[in-house]
Amino acid sequence: MGKLKIIAIVGSLRSNSFHRQLAIEAGRLLGDSAELELLDFSDVPLLNPDFEYPAPDAVKRVRDIVKSANGIWFFSPEYNHFFSGALKNLIDWLSRPISESKPQVLRNKPAAVSGLSPGMSGSVVAQDHLVSLISVLNMKVMNQPRVAIPNVMQQIDTNGRLSLNPISFNFLETQAKAFVTFIQNNLK
Ligand code: FNR
Repeated sequence: MGKLKIIAIVGSLRSNSFHRQLAIEAGRLLGDSAELELLDFSDVPLLNPDFEYPAPDAVKRVRDIVKSANGIWFFSPEYNHFFSGALKNLIDWLSRPISESKPQVLRNKPAAVSGLSPGMSGSVVAQDHLVSLISVLNMKVMNQPRVAIPNVMQQIDTNGRLSLNPISFNFLETQAKAFVTFIQNNLK
């Protein structure tokens, strides 16, 4: 079997996003077992059903990338105890059938969820909402382990970059290994 392809969907559009840094760290931890590609969806427009078919080029592009993936790993910030509007808009697009004969691309895809926060929640409330949504869309969700890192400002280096402490690092490493196994067990 070749290397697995996992797509990282980061719910923050912020240029120095800690969630993007977390995704990059997760990609390193996957090692030789899987390649992690970050999905750039910054050009995906707000969904307006008036302009759904034919889909805009940016939507076609992200659909093709998601379709080609063996698994999707969400890195979700918590905005007002929910996941971000940018992520909801992307998932709304991905939830729609490509055409009358071609179903939506998230169906049956293995999914993992992680996040962090400056406060105590570690984004877990947002993650629960996200899991509800992607379950409705028939993704195969790995419910455990999930990673929710609180107090992230205590895990930043002098340059303001994410620098996970050993406890967080171990949780992320455990999740990376578990997700590879989960995907392998769900390969058709
Ligand atoms: C937040 N933040 C936040 N944090 C939290 O723990 N619970 C919350 O409900 C909220 N609400 C919230 C709303 C809005 C509109 C913003 C912009 C931020 C802080 C948020 O968790 C933090 O910005 C992200 O975790 C940072 O992630 P990135 O952008 O560095 O990936």
